[in-house]
Amino acid sequence: MTSATATAPGRVNLIGEHTDYNGGRCLPFAIPLATTATVTVRDDAALVVEGSGDADATGYVAGVVWALREAGWDVPGLDVAVTTDLPIGGGLSSSAALECSVAVAIAGLLGQPLDRPGRRRIAEACRRAETEHVGAPTGGMDQLASMLGSAGGALLLDFADPAAPRVSDVPLPLAAAGLRILVTDSGVRHVLADGDGGYAQRRRECAAGDVRRLRHVATEDARVGSAVAAIAAGDWPGLGLLMTASHVSLREDFEVSLPQLDAAVDAAIGSGALGARLTGGGFGGCTIALVPETGVAAVRAAIDDAYGAAGWEAPAHRVVLPAVGARLIAAPA
Ligand code: GLA
Repeated sequence: MTSATATAPGRVNLIGEHTDYNGGRCLPFAIPLATTATVTVRDDAALVVEGSGDADATGYVAGVVWALREAGWDVPGLDVAVTTDLPIGGGLSSSAALECSVAVAIAGLLGQPLDRPGRRRIAEACRRAETEHVGAPTGGMDQLASMLGSAGGALLLDFADPAAPRVSDVPLPLAAAGLRILVTDSGVRHVLADGDGGYAQRRRECAAGDVRRLRHVATEDARVGSAVAAIAAGDWPGLGLLMTASHVSLREDFEVSLPQLDAAVDAAIGSGALGARLTGGGFGGCTIALVPETGVAAVRAAIDDAYGAAGWEAPAHRVVLPAVGARLIAAPA
């Protein structure tokens, strides 16, 4: 039996939200939560998907196979088995992790290169799978983060030319600075593939030139530039303030926040975080807080208290640092 296994991480976006499909910049990093896919060649041309806990997984996997064939790969019929430790629809790019894990496993099966150009081609195929096959009009940040992430830092992605995004590595020595990123899952779920949903609506508003939405995009893009400068200078309080300003802009101008996300951000800042914001598309999902390692427990407790006071179920927390991007675990000799 010919099979290959690959794993691909989710991501958090440090700053630069709803900029990727607007020709702007963002600053994501891969996280140590991932999806693992095993693909096994079948005797027939069928595609059979099992596992993952996600009812929509089959559509994403079929989309990846379609996009790789469009890119000229000779993909055979496959059994695909998927497991994940990412929350599905939780704002940490569970979809991109699924797409990239399957695509990298298929690359392993076919002997396709996993150098940087190869990884970029796979990220682009996975983006096409999501936008053209599944119908989620997302922007490309998530797949690049999952394919190109490194343990040393974040990726500065510049979509000024959407057909050829510029990618640069931004070293992010959080651990050396005694800092952590606390991820808090609001438990509220979003659906990006819903054409009538908030994400698609925001895209249409931006395309139509809505002044307030585009004010967010312009100020957010500028904040990404300032964040890169703050990181280079080791100005962590400055980075924190930019993250919080990003959240305010997403709440007031872009209007993609929710009471649960606002409460987590306010509680984090009120209990010692240098800054906090929603991460990902919004309308649910996760917040991130930049927190001194010694203060993580206090910030978690403050967020839990705020949720408790509002009568919401206690959120799940995870402490993350940048992690390596997608990789092959096993492939035919
Ligand atoms: C989702 C999309 C990304 C990006 C973010 C918002 O994660 O998949 O392409 O648009 O929302 O920044």
